[in-house]
Parts: sequence; C-alpha cells; structure tokens
Amino acid sequence: MNRTRAFVGLDALRKLVSDSMAIDMGSAVTIISVRGRGVVVDEPSVIAVNKITGEVVAVGREARQMQGREARDVIVIAPLVDGVVADFERTQAMLDRFVRNARSGISHFSRRAVMSVLSGVTQVEQRALLSAAEHAHIGRVYMVEEGLAAAIGAGVSPSDERASAVVDIGGSTTNVAVVANGSIVHANAERVGSSDIDAAIMDRLRRYRGLTIGIPTAERLKMELGSAVPPDDPAQSITIKGRDVQTGSPGAIEVTAEEVYGSTQAVMRKVADAVRETLADLPAEVAADLHDRGIILTGGGSLLKGLEEYLGTETRLSVRVADEPRFATVRGLMQLFDEPLLLRRVTRNEPPPLIDAEARAFEN
Ligand SMILES: Nc1ncnc2c1ncn2[C@@H]1O[C@H](COP(=O)(O)OP(=O)(O)OP(=O)(O)O)[C@@H](O)[C@H]1O
Ligand SMILES: [Mg+2]
Repeated sequence: MNRTRAFVGLDALRKLVSDSMAIDMGSAVTIISVRGRGVVVDEPSVIAVNKITGEVVAVGREARQMQGREARDVIVIAPLVDGVVADFERTQAMLDRFVRNARSGISHFSRRAVMSVLSGVTQVEQRALLSAAEHAHIGRVYMVEEGLAAAIGAGVSPSDERASAVVDIGGSTTNVAVVANGSIVHANAERVGSSDIDAAIMDRLRRYRGLTIGIPTAERLKMELGSAVPPDDPAQSITIKGRDVQTGSPGAIEVTAEEVYGSTQAVMRKVADAVRETLADLPAEVAADLHDRGIILTGGGSLLKGLEEYLGTETRLSVRVADEPRFATVRGLMQLFDEPLLLRRVTRNEPPPLIDAEARAFEN
C-alpha cells in the first residue's frame, strides 16, 4: 500500500472523529459545547421512552414537549436527580443521543470530553456517569468538579492565589465552592434549587386556587413573574391554564407576582442558608478574600429577578451574576482543554487504560 493511500485513509478516519467536547449534564439541563463550534446542545435533561419496547422516542426539548401529554405507551423521565444518576439506563440513552446530536456530520466518535460532576458524588455515582459517556463513544473522559469549572467559566483565573466563592444554583442543587490557586478549598452542595420554586408554585395553586398546572407552566410563572425580593408591582399578573381540582375540567386563572413571590421565598431562604453555612468557619485568610471580593452566581437559578440583592442582604457580601450564567460551567470545562497541566491535575478519575490507548490512536 502506498503512503498516499495510507494518509488519505487516516484523514478519512479523522473526519469521523469530533474533537474536544465539554459536557455539563445537569439534572435540569444538558449543555454540550464543542471546541471551535461553541454550544451545540442546550436542552432539558429529559428522555421519552416507549414503556413496552424500551425504545427511545425523543430526548431534550422534543421530549419535554410531550411531558404531560404523553401517548399511552410513552413515559417522559428526568433520569438525573439532584445532579446524580437516578436511572442509569435512561441517563446513558439520553447522553448518547445528546452527544450524537453534538457531533457534526458523519463523525461517530469523539476523541475526548471533559464532564462536570458534583463534589459530593460517590465513586459509584461517578462511575455511572463515566460509563454513560464511554457508551456514547468518547475516547477519553475527564471528570472535573463542577464548582471549579463554574469558577473558571465565571472568570476566576486558575492561577489566582486569592480565594473566590462561586454559588451555582441549578435545577435541584445549590453548589457553593470556594476556590483558590485552581483548586477547591471548600465546597458543599445542598439539595435545593430552582425547580423547587416550580414545585412550590404548583403546590400553592393547587391548594389555594384549586388549579393543577404542569411543570412548564410553573416554570413560566417563575421566569415571568418570580422575584427573590418583594416584586415592584405585586398586582402584575398573567393568565395560566390547567385542570380544575374539583371538577376535573380545564380551567384558567390569573396569577399575580405577589402569589409567585409567596412561593419563591421559602426556597430562596434555603438557598441563602446553604450559602451562609458553607461560608461560615472558613480559614481567616479565605474569609478575608471573600469579604473583599464577594460571591459570583452561576447556573440557571441565578437568573431569578432580584437574587443579587436578596443574597447580598442575607450574606452581607457583594454578589454579582456571572456573564451568561447558564453556560459558566461548560465554558470553564472548555477552557481546561487550553491548560493541559491543569486539566490533568484537576481530573478526578484515572484514565481507563484500554480506552486511553484507543483514543491515542486518533491523536496527531
Ligand atoms: N430566566 C430565568 N429565571 C429564573 N429561573 C431560570 C431562568 N432560566 C433558567 N432558570 C431555571 O434554572 C434551572 C436550571 O438551571 P441549570 O441549567 O443551571 O440547572 P442544572 O445544572 O441542570 O441543575 P443541577 O445543577 O441542579 O443538576 C431551572 O430550574 C430553570 O427553571
Ligand atoms: Mg448545573
């Protein structure tokens, strides 16, 4: 075989391989970014499967749209709960589909991916995430603590020796991380997040207004009327629809900002408690840095109106929301590819030897 042919063969092979991927698979949202192409997947972490055949019917937004209106044999599941794999098979199937959607054209293998995990996950939970990624044909998977990725993505330099605090408010977890020198000094995740507000809104409307609503409707109320501080215009309202609790028939009611605020408060108080508790009893030097620098917020939950002001009052620290806070973690993960030494140092998992050797075959 002549050299040219061998070369062409290798080139064709490379076309089948998408390069570096950053994956932030949260319990509410999965975001995947590909080097050179930016964010290519930003979808709800849900999957629709056929109950009888087990076949995957849809994932992400398409599956979310089916939620609450599923065909008889179809169920829509959020397979990750509290940032942890609750349903292994479905998590695997979901990630597989998302990764496939992230790849361009004909490629069906990715050389490497960095993926975030919550600080508190056990080896078993981490292993479950890892095998889900391997199943999706990714050569080498690096697992990195979410707090560190969020901090880097929020603009904290890994070489900064002074401490910074990042609070990531996701769908079901609030992760508080204190980082310095590109390492986590202290981190704590509490199982409270922005979806708890949706649940509180649904509960309140069912009890006091006699209307059962779906999750997407509750989320819409939170985004449009929700606030962490008393609303400027408490009477501002929107009309929402659902099922009347008494008659079972379709119904519609007007919901005000004040009612939504009533549901938001208790959840936000828990978030504030989690932040306060994690930031209490830090070493004096770290506390001093945080006093100067305050807190950075990331995650979708940080987009709630008035949150900076509320947490500022509660913690007596300055609070600011990172740029595009929903993408902070994935951005931080992606930046790690530019700093191979740092990536190596912060990776939590040892490379599986066989897979690593396979992946090397694709490296230049
Ligand atoms: N504009 C907004 N206002 C209020 N809440 C919002 C807004 N946009 C998104 N959210 C909420 O942010 C949450 C999702 O945030 P994020 O994508 O950070 O979660 P996640 O990473 O999947 O969850 P977790 O980290 O708990 O696993 C959802 O509950 C969503 O309703
Ligand atoms: Mg998250």
